[in-house]
Amino acid sequence: MLDNFKALILNQQGENFSREVKSISKSFLKHGDVVVKVDYSDLNYKDALILNNGAKLVKEFPHIPGIDFSGTVLESESPKFKKDDEVILTGWRVGEIYFGGYSQLAKVNSDYLVKKPKNISSKQAMILGTAGLTALLCSFAIKAREEILLGEKIKDVLVTGASGGVGSIAVMILSKFGYDVTAVTGKVENEKYLKSLGAKNIINKADLDKDPRPLDKGLWDGVVDTVGGKILANALSQTRDNGIVAACGNASDYKLHTTVMPFIIRGVKLWGINSVTASIKRREFVWNEVKNLIDFDKLEQSIKTINLEELLDIYPKMLKGETSGRYIIDLNK
Ligand SMILES: NC(=O)c1ccc[n+]([C@@H]2O[C@H](COP(=O)([O-])OP(=O)(O)OC[C@H]3O[C@@H](n4cnc5c(N)ncnc54)[C@H](OP(=O)(O)O)[C@@H]3O)[C@@H](O)[C@H]2O)c1
Repeated sequence: MLDNFKALILNQQGENFSREVKSISKSFLKHGDVVVKVDYSDLNYKDALILNNGAKLVKEFPHIPGIDFSGTVLESESPKFKKDDEVILTGWRVGEIYFGGYSQLAKVNSDYLVKKPKNISSKQAMILGTAGLTALLCSFAIKAREEILLGEKIKDVLVTGASGGVGSIAVMILSKFGYDVTAVTGKVENEKYLKSLGAKNIINKADLDKDPRPLDKGLWDGVVDTVGGKILANALSQTRDNGIVAACGNASDYKLHTTVMPFIIRGVKLWGINSVTASIKRREFVWNEVKNLIDFDKLEQSIKTINLEELLDIYPKMLKGETSGRYIIDLNK
């Protein structure tokens, strides 16, 4: 079955990169012990960078990009998976150093796959993708305060970069946990959307994009930060006693200038989140919580489903900041 199938091939000749959707055969796939018939992939900013020029992440060409996918196992040499298992892949440098999900067939290491919970669809898994997994990991890091600190309840939570993929899903999850979520955004026009996801209050990002005081008025029991830089430094200064700040991104700045004061005076915990190599156990735990925490009807308002050919037109727009919402790639479209 599917001896020939469609894939997006990225190639390099000298300084020039080319991208082409073409028919290839299974012998083209080289890594891994499980062959998956891919249903959906998605478009992350990292994918757009890779499609542009490999982003110094791709080491060999020709290459198949696509850092996430969902689908059904066709063949498995691994005892962990059998034909017809429905699976999810995000991260592990698939789509970078290994062939990825912009292909009707993908061959990957079985250690990287998670079984898809039965109560979500293959499409819903990619509506979340890496952004959703990261938002889940961040949100559970905040919630851990209640477990680690034995019952210290959380009330007020801040989410930065709130209209982004990670931020918007974190707003939804944290409000489902019952917390009062304040969303930081540079796009005031998104206020209604962020409130529909569960945000109680909105702050303009300019209010936090300033030099921080060592300690500011304590406002937050938890923070999910997707932007880094001064906004993260201010969030740390405004975190209350024993609060947890989950930092996952650098959409504003990769640098962080802060002081030890939030840590030694208030016991604030700065918790780094890396979804790329998160353990399978942790992934399985959070994917199985999705049904309770994600309202897909609300997220679907901002989803566009495209095919591989359309992806070639869309990714340059993402690099120019001209896209909004999430793009899902239907490999059968
Ligand atoms: N650690 C991990 O495992 C992991 C996984 C996935 C993503 N990430 C990182 O997390 C970050 C967010 O990812 P994403 O997929 O949510 O990206 P995204 O959809 O592009 O969203 C980023 C959001 O950040 C805000 N933003 C952008 N530029 C900004 C600036 N200069 N100053 C302040 N805010 C700014 C914007 O929010 P508003 O429009 O609301 O202002 C934007 O929507 C990225 O840095 C990404 O690399 C990390």
